[in-house]
Amino acid sequence: MPDQHDDEPVGIARGLTNYGDRDFARYLRASMAKSMGYSSELLRKPVVGIAGTFSEFNNCHRLVPELIAAVKRGVLAEGGLPLEFPTISLGEVFLNPTSLFFRNLMAMDTEEMVRGQPMDAVVLVGGCDKTVPAQLMGAVSANVPAIQVVTGPMMTGRWRGERLGACTDCRRFWAKYRAGEIDAQTIDEVEGNLATTAGTCAVMGTASTMASLAEGLGMMLPGTAAIPAVHADRIRAAEASGRAAMRLAREKLTPDRIITEKSVENALRLLLAIGGSTNAIIHLTAIAGRAGINVSLKRLNELSDTTPVLVDLKPTGPYYMEDLHAAGGIGAVLRELRPLLHLDALTVTGETLGERLAPEPGFIDRKVIRPLGEPLQPEGGLVALFGSLAPRGAILKRAAADATLFEKEGRAVVFNSLEDLAARIDDPDLDVTAEDFMVLQNAGPLSPSGMPEAGYLPIPGKLARAGVKDMVRISDARMSGTAYGTIVLHVSPDAASGGPLGLVRSGDRIRLSIKERRIDLLVAEDELARRRAETPSTAVNPPRGYARLYRREVLQADQGCDLDFLRKVPSQP
Ligand code: FES
Repeated sequence: MPDQHDDEPVGIARGLTNYGDRDFARYLRASMAKSMGYSSELLRKPVVGIAGTFSEFNNCHRLVPELIAAVKRGVLAEGGLPLEFPTISLGEVFLNPTSLFFRNLMAMDTEEMVRGQPMDAVVLVGGCDKTVPAQLMGAVSANVPAIQVVTGPMMTGRWRGERLGACTDCRRFWAKYRAGEIDAQTIDEVEGNLATTAGTCAVMGTASTMASLAEGLGMMLPGTAAIPAVHADRIRAAEASGRAAMRLAREKLTPDRIITEKSVENALRLLLAIGGSTNAIIHLTAIAGRAGINVSLKRLNELSDTTPVLVDLKPTGPYYMEDLHAAGGIGAVLRELRPLLHLDALTVTGETLGERLAPEPGFIDRKVIRPLGEPLQPEGGLVALFGSLAPRGAILKRAAADATLFEKEGRAVVFNSLEDLAARIDDPDLDVTAEDFMVLQNAGPLSPSGMPEAGYLPIPGKLARAGVKDMVRISDARMSGTAYGTIVLHVSPDAASGGPLGLVRSGDRIRLSIKERRIDLLVAEDELARRRAETPSTAVNPPRGYARLYRREVLQADQGCDLDFLRKVPSQP
């Protein structure tokens, strides 16, 4: 039978199956565990669960088995029993309608398997966009000692003397193809050279941003967010995380002591300083919501005004994640931000952030990571907008936008669904100019499309061919962290829930002011009331299954698109 400490069961003696006879349940569990060949001695050890997410529908997780083997080594070396278990895996480009739709399902799976199975700590192994937020959401709710390991970014490849990395370059070449600058044979060739190793997208997209934020939150070992997937350091990081999980188990250091208002604010500062993905706002809000912490978009703006951009990776700059790792990694960025951070926030090592950042940094490549006093931009990369078009807020990544479009009034050109967009965007007769604001409706969390990364509306074919590179685009959708442009996203409430975005008609005037943090629909209230009365609801009501649960419970973007009943404090009793 497993060891007992402080009268609290340890290892496989935890959380017994309910047969109405505890001794029988213990005896039966040990007997079944022995059928897997474990010795009695090992079955007395603390158990570290390893949430595995290998899937052949997830290219970013190709090397998860190798990482898990290394985590197991670390756990065994510290005298624990590592037990791997599977959860849902979310491969960004393999899921329909979107991976975000399934993020909450994966979070539920992770939470319930961590809570339901006997483990003293858990190592979460994930990487692709939605997997890390899902694992952290689940871990916060289960509140078992937890540590995150990421699969790490892809290395860049070479093509005709050019360096290519998924997926900013994917979009760049696709835009060239749409504009007729390259032919079908060339785009085929590019397709084979964009993603050439295991790992997550090579730029500061959502996966890289969430890996960085996991480190900034204190849920990951220092210095491990940016290590490339195929680098030997990545395997060593996994082994060290296995060891760290045993310390977490011994010290009973639970996520509620690490994910606090202070660490969430640290993560927001980091997000702004690295020019991270807009998606990360949604994910961080959802993770924080699991801990009962509210992330306010107004507070985001205050932090954005006082947090400079220090890192210049694609999609905004020239560098890739492998360069960030070689330049000093997220630790070097956090050291620069020290005067702005809550240094008493606790991390998975048991140290505070201040203690963790105290040692002298090693080499820092200042081309990639700027000093706090010489930033790339004096203000943060993201800004929240409010106004009559977005009463509960919207997000714009100003670091990736064209500043000449920041103070502008334009005529709306409206697409009322993704299907409408696809059908008309390249119509030569489309009434659109480069000065117009393109508006996409019904792509928010309550729409049938489940808030896809469709906010990066393509430039209409005839304008792209005429050389137009950017336009103001507005939607209730999300945007891939690898995309760029003057794009207003996450408009809340979304069109499908009756938000004002759904009331915009082609020809309306919209005013955008980044200086004033506003986005306004310049239409009289009585006209909007008339339109509201005649606009049918576009919300869908699926007959059954997860889709039905999602539709009933999903929250708006400003609440992280979590399911209401999964937040620490649901709004419905
Ligand atoms: Fe997984 Fe980009 S497809 S991170």
